[in-house]
Amino acid sequence: MNKFIDIPENLIIGIPEIDGWHFEIAEIMNRLYDKAVNMNNLQGEIPGRYYSCPRLSAMQCVYGRNPLQREVTHLLDRLVKATRAHFQSEEEIMLALAFKGLPEHRREHLMLSAELSILVRSCNCGVEPVGGETLKSLKHWFLGHLSGSDYEIGRHYRKMKTIEEGYQ
Ligand SMILES: [Fe+2]
Ligand SMILES: [Fe+2]
Repeated sequence: MNKFIDIPENLIIGIPEIDGWHFEIAEIMNRLYDKAVNMNNLQGEIPGRYYSCPRLSAMQCVYGRNPLQREVTHLLDRLVKATRAHFQSEEEIMLALAFKGLPEHRREHLMLSAELSILVRSCNCGVEPVGGETLKSLKHWFLGHLSGSDYEIGRHYRKMKTIEEGYQ
């Protein structure tokens, strides 16, 4: 069975810590996809089946759901935490590498974090279903960032390594 997200070889940055986080985030999204498909018990299509409870907080919404729904909520929470931790470690690496694109990259991380938080909160409260469109937009966001901004860090890293090796 094809995975929902599979990181192609050309999107491996070449910095193990960064790549490790990317695989971890992809794995959470794959589990999320798997659970969402099971939850809706439909093949290939994953429309949301969350009931709407816009007056309740995300935590209140968790209660009263079936175990699969709770698992989806848990995975969304893991996704937010892993993304935050990854962004922080990636920014520290960029700083250590004196990467000039850091301020712009950090701004992109901030925007992505805010978008993800809004999306997750909407999903948790049933305002927005964890459906095909939600997961596709997450995938698009993730792979787009990898192939654009993150790829540049890898390029910078390889350039620095080549210069360093030239001095040895
Ligand atoms: Fe990044
Ligand atoms: Fe990244």
